[in-house]
Amino acid sequence: MSSDQKEFYAHETAVIDEGCEIGKGTKIWHFSHIMAKCKIGENCNIGQNVVISPEVVLGKNVKVQNNVSIYTGVTCDDDVFLGPSMVFTNVINPRSAVNRRGQYSKTHVGKGASIGANATIVCGHDIGEFAFIGAGAVVTKTIPAYALVVGNPSRQIGWMSEYGHKLVFDKEGKAICPESGEVYYLKEGRVLKSNP
Ligand SMILES: CC(C)(COP(=O)(O)OP(=O)(O)OC[C@H]1O[C@@H](n2cnc3c(N)ncnc32)[C@H](O)[C@@H]1OP(=O)(O)O)[C@@H](O)C(=O)NCCC(=O)NCCS
Repeated sequence: MSSDQKEFYAHETAVIDEGCEIGKGTKIWHFSHIMAKCKIGENCNIGQNVVISPEVVLGKNVKVQNNVSIYTGVTCDDDVFLGPSMVFTNVINPRSAVNRRGQYSKTHVGKGASIGANATIVCGHDIGEFAFIGAGAVVTKTIPAYALVVGNPSRQIGWMSEYGHKLVFDKEGKAICPESGEVYYLKEGRVLKSNP
């Protein structure tokens, strides 16, 4: 891609391999490496020293903080936040002497989810929409939409609104986000935004 066709910004120290699609308005900062055939949506921010392995797919407005590694098999929907130094994985049982290339586990991160600083996502566990993974958590299970999880191994300690506030449900299973005023319902272990 010639520079005059580019509608995204990449710092001169960033490396972008062949066959990538990078959306308009996206910014890629110092020393980051986007490997072959990645698809990165519009208005993303890829911080410093980020590695994105081949064929990773990121939606629109994904914010990737410094030192994050996103490996092949990972897909992130729109508005995902990946905190500084968090890391994905894509092989459950790596051995240096055994070649498992092409056998990568998949991990999907739903729209609006946030992953805190230094968290580790053990591969094959999807993260639901608007889930919130606390700083330093080690995720070893699939995480439901809107769940708040912390610790190693991560455990659910509550639910988070789309604006990132803990949801306190009353005995009818209703909660209101203090920032947006949006109403949430807890029904059969799932958070919904319309009254079931
Ligand atoms: C998970 C999080 C949102 C909780 O924030 P909070 O609602 O203010 O939580 P509190 O401080 O009230 O903590 C509630 C309990 O959870 C524990 N806790 C909070 N965050 C934790 C974490 N990341 N890991 C383990 N335990 C945690 C607290 O120690 C406290 O435990 P206690 O009840 O036994 O005292 C926040 O701690 C967090 O990890 N945010 C992510 C920050 C981040 O990575 N930002 C990246 C951009 S810079």
